[in-house]
Amino acid sequence: MTAASDTPALPTTRPAGCPYDPPENYATLREEAPTSQVRCPAGMDAWLVTRYSDVRAVLADRTMSSRGASSVHVNAGAERDLDIEVAPGSIIQLDGKDHSRLRKMVLAEFTVRRVEAMRTYVQGLVESHLDAMLAKPGEADLVRDFALPIPSLVICELLGVPYADRERFQHQSSTLVSTDTTREQGQQAYEELSGFLAALFVDKQKNPQDDLFSRLIARGRETGDALTMEELVMLGLSLLVAGHETTANMIALSTLVLLDHPQQREVVLAAPERAVEELLRYLSVVQFGVLRYATEDVQVGARAVKAGEWLVAALNSANRDEELFPAADKLDFHRESPRTHVAFGFGAHQCIGQQLARVELQEALTRLFRRVPDLRLAVPRESLAYKHNTLVYGVRELPVAWS
Ligand code: HEM
Repeated sequence: MTAASDTPALPTTRPAGCPYDPPENYATLREEAPTSQVRCPAGMDAWLVTRYSDVRAVLADRTMSSRGASSVHVNAGAERDLDIEVAPGSIIQLDGKDHSRLRKMVLAEFTVRRVEAMRTYVQGLVESHLDAMLAKPGEADLVRDFALPIPSLVICELLGVPYADRERFQHQSSTLVSTDTTREQGQQAYEELSGFLAALFVDKQKNPQDDLFSRLIARGRETGDALTMEELVMLGLSLLVAGHETTANMIALSTLVLLDHPQQREVVLAAPERAVEELLRYLSVVQFGVLRYATEDVQVGARAVKAGEWLVAALNSANRDEELFPAADKLDFHRESPRTHVAFGFGAHQCIGQQLARVELQEALTRLFRRVPDLRLAVPRESLAYKHNTLVYGVRELPVAWS
């Protein structure tokens, strides 16, 4: 797409007053220009797809490539790298057969039965972190002490990281996913984690345990379609990157929403499944949507998109589309069909970890508010800082207090 100098930027500014709402211009765009040209922070132009029905159609379209996946459009300077080969095992960026081969293997590990079996582990983690938090003298940072470590330790469990290594692994993984990390620190954490995972998986090849990667390795041997070490490591890193920040930000931001709406907490305690779906829709933390590359000419609503053009499927806009969600800007735990949101994406790349994320959110929120019914903010509301410029939206710190 040839860029006109007046191409508007991808909307990123949220309305003053409500930190949970997407940028205001999405509502106008859905109405007046549902698929319009924008300049991404990385410098390239893309079609911004804002309506729910169009977002689903784009994400269901097998001619759309995920080569850029979700993050390329927000990383300044990424454009020149778009032609690089996608690393094998980097599931979120693969297309076609390479993608479906890997996805099928991983999906077998994320069945409802397997995820429910993880629930007891998640419950233990939530309780032990609450014990530690409540042992402090009346104040804590809910992000650092609760929201971040829980998803990180769940991923340790999935990967089968030995207990003795978990602290080091957690430290490196938070450096990798942190928004405050420099490029060099991120690169160093990436190399250390890759090396650690490679050694871990070599060990699992020899001494399989009862964990996801031991089973993937064993199944590969049985079927004659074994994943290479590079694939295993990239897959491990992909789970870490996809499952850590997203879930952590959802836990912290949902807590803040429920501090703002104390009368709604009863609903969360009584019907956590329903409440978590609405929180996922309402908050849509993957705030800059997901990127796709058209490999063929295609029609998106009334817009003709050409092969070779980029599209951003704006998940947060789709989740506020009044066509689907009446009074979409309202947090309403009593919606019909609460699962129709696209917070986990849609189509071939729809989130593999969604069941697990739901379990983590349900357990974290219900146990937190049951054990600490008088939880409150420890600082003035206006002093909270939000992650406005990062792929995953959230609150930077959440100082809380209790009696
Ligand atoms: C509330 C938490 C989460 C949210 C909002 C979320 C959101 C998403 C979204 C929007 C996508 C689609 C990306 C695309 O279409 O390009 C995705 C994919 C993915 N997610 Fe999640 N996710 C969450 C938690 C998790 C967890 C806990 C895991 C695993 C531990 C996970 C693993 C993955 C993987 C592996 C993919 C790529 C699937 C594929 O490409 O086939 N996610 N997620």
